[in-house]
Amino acid sequence: MTSEPLLRVDGLTARYGSVQVLHDVSLDVREGEMVALLGANGAGKTTLLRAVSRVVSTGGTLTLDGADLTRLDTIGAARAGIGHVPQGRGTFGELTVEENLRLGSMGRPGSLRGEAESDLERVHEMFPVLKEMRRRPAGALSGGQQQMLALGRALLARPRVLLVDEPSLGLAPRTTAELFEALAGIRASWSTAVLLAEQNARLSLRVADRAVVLARGGVARSCAASELSDEAELRAAYLGTTPVRTTAAKRGSAEPAPRDPGTAPRTDTDAEEASR
Ligand SMILES: Nc1ncnc2c1ncn2[C@@H]1O[C@H](COP(=O)(O)OP(=O)(O)O)[C@@H](O)[C@H]1O
Ligand SMILES: [Mg+2]
Repeated sequence: MTSEPLLRVDGLTARYGSVQVLHDVSLDVREGEMVALLGANGAGKTTLLRAVSRVVSTGGTLTLDGADLTRLDTIGAARAGIGHVPQGRGTFGELTVEENLRLGSMGRPGSLRGEAESDLERVHEMFPVLKEMRRRPAGALSGGQQQMLALGRALLARPRVLLVDEPSLGLAPRTTAELFEALAGIRASWSTAVLLAEQNARLSLRVADRAVVLARGGVARSCAASELSDEAELRAAYLGTTPVRTTAAKRGSAEPAPRDPGTAPRTDTDAEEASR
């Protein structure tokens, strides 16, 4: 393991107006690693990714391979190697699928210009539908296909760290599975690290090396993905508690997990999401 992580977030804070939504968030993403950023709706996942890609300004430390990211604007961060597939995809609906992909290639480092065509072919191999529909306006694609397009476009910029925000949102389970299969292969074949924000914890934990659980804008848990494969552990990480012993739970006499409003998800559905 190298000592300096590729992406380092340390003591990060962020606010919207007078409301602080990230509190002292620290996490690392190492070279070639996939880190799942989990947490209930409103926990701060999107804000954290936006902070890294410099869409929202922040306090604290943010470095890419030791270089200060906080001095950069969004374009500067992209040039430095931060790729971002935003929540809701952000493809250009009026442009064709191919034009969207070529826009991605324009963001690549000069030293990799020569590989743009072969990389485009690799995206087509990964998502054949993007080749089939290359002349169609992006707006005509289904939600799942647009997500594939957004991912392909981001990869064509050849990021060092790829931020992916809720790729499964609104997709059918089968499309989601296909997308996650592609995500699982990305690190090796594109030599990029990935920070994956997802509410679908179970699916993310299957493809990630490590997990960071956010609750109410702070880090509630940071560990190997495998440590959260146990349902009780995962639930506890979301609720900010220690796992309830199964035997006690079976008796039906277990104390309910403390619902500290500072750390608990807002609804039971969110906790359900955690164990989906
Ligand atoms: N543009 C915004 N203006 C004001 N508050 C926002 C804005 N975007 C998000 N928030 C608030 O910040 C908190 C974190 O939101 P977000 O980062 O979107 O969480 P997540 O992605 O985990 O659902 C929430 O309380 C949300 O309501
Ligand atoms: Mg979000």
